[in-house]
Amino acid sequence: MHPDTRRRLLQIVRRQFRLDWRGIHGGPHWARVRWNGLTMARMNGAREDVVELFAFLHDCQRWHDGRDREHGARAADFVWGLDAGLLSLDRPGLEMLTYAVRYHSDGLLDADVTVQTCWDSDRLDLGRVGITPRPDRLCTEQARDPSLLERAYARSVRR
Ligand SMILES: [Fe+2]
Repeated sequence: MHPDTRRRLLQIVRRQFRLDWRGIHGGPHWARVRWNGLTMARMNGAREDVVELFAFLHDCQRWHDGRDREHGARAADFVWGLDAGLLSLDRPGLEMLTYAVRYHSDGLLDADVTVQTCWDSDRLDLGRVGITPRPDRLCTEQARDPSLLERAYARSVRR
């Protein structure tokens, strides 16, 4: 993603974000999810544009830091409402992004590798809330790889 596009997107997303920007579902989490996702995408061929957008958008419609069951659906609707030029995704990319965002906290495992990589990138950051990611709840072999799992965990608890 071009740095100018990223800056513009984050400006729009952050303007409507209701929670603590430094909190457990805020900017530092998005940055780690982005790193996790792009690291895996380089290994498994997942679409980097979708994975990066997922990091910035999946939690952007949370109303609180608890379970907030509808936040994925709200975020998916928010994505559909964004300027398509800003996202610069083709139709399949937009569909994968909104699917990944909508269902990211439902514990699903089966999906296209790009969607799986989005979900894993988020789950690899669970250490920040005191949960150790379980390999059997991760979708991709890249996420289950002990060295990535450990690196992501170390970053998640350092917050
Ligand atoms: Fe998240």
